[in-house]
Amino acid sequence: MKTLQDVDKTRVPRHVAIIMDGNGRWAKAKLQRRIYGHQHAMQAVHEATEAAAELGCEYLTVYAFSTENWNRPQEEVEGLMELLIKAVIEETPTMMKNNVRLETIGDTSRIPKRSLDYLNRAIEETSKNTGLCMILALSYSSRWEIAEALKGIIADAQKGLITPDQVTEETIRPYLATRNYPDPDLLIRTGGELRTSNFLQWQMAYTEFYFSDMLWPDFRKPDFYEAICEYQRRQRRFGKTGDQVEAENQQS
Ligand code: IPE
Ligand code: IPE
Ligand code: MG
Repeated sequence: MKTLQDVDKTRVPRHVAIIMDGNGRWAKAKLQRRIYGHQHAMQAVHEATEAAAELGCEYLTVYAFSTENWNRPQEEVEGLMELLIKAVIEETPTMMKNNVRLETIGDTSRIPKRSLDYLNRAIEETSKNTGLCMILALSYSSRWEIAEALKGIIADAQKGLITPDQVTEETIRPYLATRNYPDPDLLIRTGGELRTSNFLQWQMAYTEFYFSDMLWPDFRKPDFYEAICEYQRRQRRFGKTGDQVEAENQQS
């Protein structure tokens, strides 16, 4: 079992993204309703956030609800929206204690007003915190985000603020919901599925992927450290050769 001491503190990923999957199967294995799994997911979020903050990660993006998740049974969707309120109420004091700033990405216009009010209150309350930035991806999908970015670019083009030849990777960034965050260095997906489910597709072009068969409600700090240690064993080449990367590392 990995501990905090096993992690190389000089090479901690700046930004970790997590697809928190497996709540429903966790509940089913215990002969419970799916919402029971979502309720028990909160402890895992709590531990991942604390572990990321203690390690000195700057950003933690957690996929809490996708655009496609709106298609789940109404009872589950309503249960999740209520749980959001409970999570925000219970976790805000811990975020304050750990200097964590809460932010959100996604189409929040679809979130019920009561849940959104609680969420916005927590965002406001933690806004001055200077430690880890925790980004809740809620009603989020990459295709939604890219469509929104295109709307913004076309609107600015119509106002004469941007021309087609000015569109580059860097000019696209300010139109994305993630404009204020660096790209994730590491993606962790629990639940055993080997896919990205419409999450941060643009941003994860060079992200390291770590897949775990563990179901999200069972995920604890040692599992987070394990993922970080695996990340630290990888060589990130960004298209260069291994020799080039090694030479660069020796220089720095
Ligand atoms: C992830 O767990 C949480 C959400 C998508 C909201 P699931 O609810 O997808 O759990 P499984 O994949 O059905 O086990
Ligand atoms: C991805 O999990 C979304 C979240 C974790 C919020 P899903 O359970 O919705 O993904 P698929 O449908 O199995 O790809
Ligand atoms: Mg799932």
